[in-house]
Amino acid sequence: MPQTRMPTDPFHIAPPEGSPLIEIRGLQTHFFTDDGIVKAVDGVDLDVYANRTLCILGESGCGKSIMARSILRIVDAPGKITAGSIVYRGADGQTIDLAKARHVSKALRDIRGQDIAMIFQEPMVSLGPIQKIGRQIVETILLHRSVTKREAREIAIEILDKVGIPKPAERFEAYPFELSGGMRQRAMIAMALSCQPRLLIADEPTTALDVTTQAQILDLIAELKEELKMGVMLITHDLGVVAEVAEDVAVMYMGRVVEKGDVFSIFENPQHPYTQALLKSVPKLGAPKKKRLPAIRGMVPHPLARPSGCTFRTRCDRAIARVCELRQPALIKRDSTEVACFLHSKEAAGD
Ligand SMILES: Nc1ncnc2c1ncn2[C@@H]1O[C@H](COP(=O)(O)OP(=O)(O)OP(=O)(O)O)[C@@H](O)[C@H]1O
Ligand SMILES: [Mg+2]
Repeated sequence: MPQTRMPTDPFHIAPPEGSPLIEIRGLQTHFFTDDGIVKAVDGVDLDVYANRTLCILGESGCGKSIMARSILRIVDAPGKITAGSIVYRGADGQTIDLAKARHVSKALRDIRGQDIAMIFQEPMVSLGPIQKIGRQIVETILLHRSVTKREAREIAIEILDKVGIPKPAERFEAYPFELSGGMRQRAMIAMALSCQPRLLIADEPTTALDVTTQAQILDLIAELKEELKMGVMLITHDLGVVAEVAEDVAVMYMGRVVEKGDVFSIFENPQHPYTQALLKSVPKLGAPKKKRLPAIRGMVPHPLARPSGCTFRTRCDRAIARVCELRQPALIKRDSTEVACFLHSKEAAGD
């Protein structure tokens, strides 16, 4: 079960311990299209820690999925990582820069299947179409855990049951095409969790599911997070979910992180005008209600027409003339969050 939270206790979320599982620095992933370069990710700095959930927030098109896919190096052409590093720290303490790992390398393949699992909104991406669901999960379990075939089968049925698949022993024998969309989504989540990854990247995994199943799956993720000390990166538009499950939050806008910090600081005292606008109708912590991100004045600019300087300035009520259009603000520490905004920077004051 997700931990119970005290609504106004800013000290309830302890700071992260130890080194991050993943340390992303200056990550850029660009698409080289016929019309120009789409800077989908344009200088992201992020850390994901074991036993913590980092939620990524931001409007559609701000680069959340491409950032997540960059970690596993599954960005489709014409997308390419053009700068930055994604340092992953393995169980043995060894680090590897995934941004620079060769595409076909064994190291990358091993990490993908074993250490880092990803669940998507679209289940067919990760389920093989011509093998029965149960067999796919059993194979994953056998690959990653020292159990017998029979035990693997039992674990598989148990996990199918846990993700809310009725009659799991029967469904074990089903092919993906025989299941409804919702059931396939659950089967994919079961498969991702069955390999007991150290890091789970979940890109809007429950958006298509009904509220009860969504809650069950979030509980299961939270349970496994505690049990396995798994790190979780969860991309969601649902602020209620963020309030419920996140320790850490990062807010993205046009390919950059504009603010990040622990969930209480971000919800109670957001510093960036974009975060403030996003959270205007924030659900009360402790009593989360389902709420989608509210609309913000204007629209996200076309990716090929990025404003100069701070990309949010064209929608920002507090933009500073002759400051915000000139340079891109860097993330700086401000109380308990980090924020990229000239309102909080000495540069803007002319120091
Ligand atoms: N294959 C592609 N070719 C060109 N541009 C792309 C491609 N895939 C994504 N993009 C662009 O990259 C940017 C980031 O997209 P991304 O899918 O990461 O957004 P997102 O934050 O996940 O949005 P959503 O909330 O809708 O899922 C967008 O401007 C998108 O148009
Ligand atoms: Mg997305």
